[in-house]
Amino acid sequence: MHIAFLNPQGNFDRVDSYLTEHPDFGGQLVYVKEVSMALASMGVQVDIVTRHIDDPDWSGFSKQVDCYTTHQDLLRIVRISCGGIGFLEKEKLWPHLPEFISNVRAFYGSSLPDYLTAHYADGGYCAVLLQHSTGLGFTFTGHSLGAQKLDKLGMTTANMATLDQRFHFSQRIDAERLSMQRSDTIITSTSQERFEQYGHTLYVGAVDTGDDDKFRVIPPGVNTKIFSDARQEGDADTDAWLQNICGDDTATYIVVSSRLDEKKNIAGVVTAYATSPNIQQRARLGLFIRGVEDPFAEINKLPEAEQSVLRPILAQIEAADIKDKVDFFNITSQRQLAAAYRFFARRHSIFALTSFYEPFGLAPIEAAACGLVVVATRNGGPTEIFGDGSAVLVDPQNTGAIVHGLLDALQRGAGLAAMGKQRVLSKYTWDQTARGYLRAIERGIGAKRSPGTVPDLDAAARISDYLHAAEIAN
Ligand code: F6P
Repeated sequence: MHIAFLNPQGNFDRVDSYLTEHPDFGGQLVYVKEVSMALASMGVQVDIVTRHIDDPDWSGFSKQVDCYTTHQDLLRIVRISCGGIGFLEKEKLWPHLPEFISNVRAFYGSSLPDYLTAHYADGGYCAVLLQHSTGLGFTFTGHSLGAQKLDKLGMTTANMATLDQRFHFSQRIDAERLSMQRSDTIITSTSQERFEQYGHTLYVGAVDTGDDDKFRVIPPGVNTKIFSDARQEGDADTDAWLQNICGDDTATYIVVSSRLDEKKNIAGVVTAYATSPNIQQRARLGLFIRGVEDPFAEINKLPEAEQSVLRPILAQIEAADIKDKVDFFNITSQRQLAAAYRFFARRHSIFALTSFYEPFGLAPIEAAACGLVVVATRNGGPTEIFGDGSAVLVDPQNTGAIVHGLLDALQRGAGLAAMGKQRVLSKYTWDQTARGYLRAIERGIGAKRSPGTVPDLDAAARISDYLHAAEIAN
């Protein structure tokens, strides 16, 4: 069996050089890579089909066919050109996707894969185009849907043109609708994602969230070879480096490790910490900020968008006079991250992720697998993952609730950490995710389908009708 994973955005390299450095190098890349690797380990031939880049600022993506050193036989990274050779943000890919797909066709010639899995709106649209010319079937995994993002950004009829120019919702919403309609199976990480996200007004007519045949809830997993509580090669170096920053004491930490993105609400944890002398007495605050050793001195080295998230956080730390209780860690790889989690787990530390909304929540399961106690947002995936009480769930908008949650987690320490780890290892592994994909793929291969025409992507009228209706209702 030969499967292609269509993932035009971001890119894949052997060592995940840019992971979390840019929004397009986030959890989706880990997801696609891990499911692909797990499928390859089961004997499936897999291609991750992504964009070819030959850009000095983003090195490592210039080879057309590449592989991971651990999976050289059955898993390829296939890089296909479109829209020039420089890196392009995912929002700028839309006009180039037809070229991408015609080059995908040229690459495969008559040896097409047996089936496709499509990721995010851009991958979904590519699958629609490829299905149109080949009849191949596909699964669609949205990862993050445009309708929710548009709501979160506060889109109105007044700012629609400006936001659309930046984020290209007019293309994205239509690409998502087509992907939902034409895919054999829609894969979601949680049933909440299925009903809440796909149930948005902007997708009415494209998908029926009550259709059990269309949806499969297949949760992502944790890479237990990296994220586990067992010591690994290289841990000693990370331990020494961390110990040097932490000083002599063996304090417990509240660890915050997420992209510098407004929606991750890092400020929520910092505010809770700053307002609670009780928490300050019991734990230090550890902020994992990738790219700088000392954010106070080096903030200008970070991209503008990250600076704008970090600046108020630093100001808050200074205003609350807690600089001496906060440490920063410039973690640069997944292995170092896992080693750091283990280091802090030995101190019965807490991992805190209080995003306003978290579609799934890969980071908390990775942290739990390493033995950290988890405090996570109650909005989105974590509610389903840790719904058995194996983590503390909090309202991210409510500082008091975050304070209460952190204190509760500090109190329950090792017992809660053991529950979290057990929960993750029993339910959330990539092998289980890959098996779910395989079942969906086997079901779709050979099914008869009529590819239909591919209309131009332009949901502007649909979006503006939706915004008008929302404004009248308010
Ligand atoms: O990497 C996780 C992810 O959800 C990707 O799917 C996507 O690149 C990004 O983060 C979210 O994109 P957006 O903010 O446009 O929904």
